[in-house]
Amino acid sequence: MEKIKRIGVLTSGGDCAGLNAVISAVVAAASKKGWEVYGINDGTEGITEKPHRYEVLTVKNFSDSPWPRLSGSYLGSLNKGMRVESLEEVSNRFAVGVKELGLDAIVVIGGDGSMNIVSNMCKNSLVKIVGIPKTIDNDTPITEFSVGFQTAVQYCTTAVDSLELTARSHNRAMIVEVMGRDAGHLALHAALAGSADVCLIPEIPYSLNGIINKLKEIKARGRNHAVIVVSEGLKTENGTAVTSTKNMVGEMIYGGIGQYLCDEISKRYNEFQFRVTTLGHLQRSGVPVAFDRLLAALFGAKAIELLDKGEDNKMVVWKNGEVSAVNLPDVVKAGTTLVNTQGKYVKAAKDLGIYIGEI
Ligand code: F6P
Repeated sequence: MEKIKRIGVLTSGGDCAGLNAVISAVVAAASKKGWEVYGINDGTEGITEKPHRYEVLTVKNFSDSPWPRLSGSYLGSLNKGMRVESLEEVSNRFAVGVKELGLDAIVVIGGDGSMNIVSNMCKNSLVKIVGIPKTIDNDTPITEFSVGFQTAVQYCTTAVDSLELTARSHNRAMIVEVMGRDAGHLALHAALAGSADVCLIPEIPYSLNGIINKLKEIKARGRNHAVIVVSEGLKTENGTAVTSTKNMVGEMIYGGIGQYLCDEISKRYNEFQFRVTTLGHLQRSGVPVAFDRLLAALFGAKAIELLDKGEDNKMVVWKNGEVSAVNLPDVVKAGTTLVNTQGKYVKAAKDLGIYIGEI
């Protein structure tokens, strides 16, 4: 087994809180083994473009700085905007870049899409890879939690708490639209943590009448306000997307379902005033909560341990309260993980009387 001397670490896809804590853990664990760490800028672009963009990261210049405590990505991240004609072309440039930079392995901090793309590039360039899952959507397969999710849940829960208080002052039903793409994990966790009255996620069909009946029930027991959490990927009652805007790689840019619900419910029921709050990119920022930093530490250490043992082409995961590793091809094969509609979180929402749709 060839000894590792230098690794690259990069962040790929949409940012989230905790990325710098992961980078720091990777730097600390790798440095302890005597390995050099190149922090690659702007995802794979720092490797594929010339001049290559990277920085040598050490415990002294990075881990000892305030950066590990801050959100955003110190390295910059590439979010679905590859400036190339074909994946084959970028993959070839990646192989050349890896060679020129002298990288023996790459730690990629990303979601399932990034794991897929970067693991293919690594296969092509014969460089070792270990993945560390991150995303506020929590839709990376196999791992129960990805870095950044808990901070986003905390942000959304705080928003629900705040909206409940202002709703109380004005006989209002507050609709709060949260991110998550096609997965409702973020909405569901925030609704449970914040004791919302209604939680609507893309995985479960709903009806406007179902929502209105819940609001009537609240009113009948003497409460003058309500909070409705809605996941951005939810469609209209009859299954139509509220937006058709797409990003550079043809993926839907979500937003607007909160306003749709506000308009439609207001037409049918006026015992409450309705207002919409869209939390947007604030959910990806803020101070990373302790659990995200704990995951960052455990994942970073595990990734380096795997590479040291010669176990590559893996992604670290959090499962059954333990850190372990799974094969990257299995992650790619599993694809995006949606909310299990038979799972414990949906069951709890139903048991607590939250209207979660027609299920
Ligand atoms: O995947 C993370 C995420 O924040 C989604 O929840 C959201 O739909 C999307 O990224 C927003 O992407 P962008 O930063 O390109 O607007």
